[in-house]
Amino acid sequence: MFKKKHKYNIAVVGATGAVGRRMLTTLEERNFPVGQLSALASARSIGKKLPFKGGTIEVKQLTENSFVGVDFALFSAGSSISKKYAPIAVESGCVAIDNSSAWRMEKDIPLIVPEVNPSALGSKCGIIANPNCSTIQMVVALKPIHDQYRIRRVIVSTYQSVSGSGQKAIEELKQQSRDILDGKSIQKNVFPHQIAFNCLPHIDIFMENGYTKEEMKMVDETRKILGDSTIEISPTAVRVPVFYSHSESVNVETELPMEVDKVQNLLSSSPGIFLVDNPEESEYPLAVDACGKEGVFVGRVRRDLVRTNVLNFWVVSDNLLKGAASNAVQIAELALKRLEA
Ligand code: A2P
Repeated sequence: MFKKKHKYNIAVVGATGAVGRRMLTTLEERNFPVGQLSALASARSIGKKLPFKGGTIEVKQLTENSFVGVDFALFSAGSSISKKYAPIAVESGCVAIDNSSAWRMEKDIPLIVPEVNPSALGSKCGIIANPNCSTIQMVVALKPIHDQYRIRRVIVSTYQSVSGSGQKAIEELKQQSRDILDGKSIQKNVFPHQIAFNCLPHIDIFMENGYTKEEMKMVDETRKILGDSTIEISPTAVRVPVFYSHSESVNVETELPMEVDKVQNLLSSSPGIFLVDNPEESEYPLAVDACGKEGVFVGRVRRDLVRTNVLNFWVVSDNLLKGAASNAVQIAELALKRLEA
């Protein structure tokens, strides 16, 4: 039984990782009512210190007992950890918000983007799934268009930063860039090919249908979040040598005709979206500008050259924030509101 409190005990699982660290800063920046905070990671990280609210917290090893007395557990330590420990957390009375793909497509698990489908959360909070980073920023932009014009088809190409593959991937891009500029040979550990000064049309594993798992996540999760399994989605996911923020080129076909200025107004007045669309002044969303911000930035809105019901736009967001940590903390805020109601 949920008890309303002044402050809530939080556990961050995978606290030393690229997303986990952002979860700590987001809890702090959004002023979530944090009581005790447990920073959990593998045995390798025991005793490491992480910054929080002007001080530091010591990392502890994740165990089956880590969730006793915890109210909210935020998971970002990969699918196998979430598969095993999220049910244990819920069993201990926790709301478990999971950033991995372990639970997203389970029928009874809500998959939530608070600006898009808050009502899918319901009143019972057990495991709540946080969608894939590329999906989140796309659905935030698609939702108002779908509500107004009814989307039939989406063709999307992503330009995804290396931080989506974790802290080791960030180090790999740095090291390869240095080595190439210094004329040295490179090491490949995280990515199957050189990522520095290159683009890889390969994120996650290849499926039998020729698409990657990342691409299929965008298809399946978008349909689940928008609650419409008839939307056709054609994705290509590409890893690019950018450290933070994902960019996407989106082509959207709707049932009703669209006018660019109306869509721009609609987007700029929708929650979570910032319109940056002034091409004459070379103003459009950029990965480096979105980095460190919580919003979803949309620009280059333009109609198809021939068809009145087809539109193109460019959407950028910080994959570690709105694509992961901020969305997770927003879900915690939403769950808290439901539970306290
Ligand atoms: P650790 O730093 O101790 O390895 P990233 O996505 O940036 O690679 O981060 C992955 C996160 O998941 C890290 O915090 C990592 O902790 C954590 N992690 C990996 N394996 C385990 C495990 N077996 N138990 C708990 N945390 C884990």
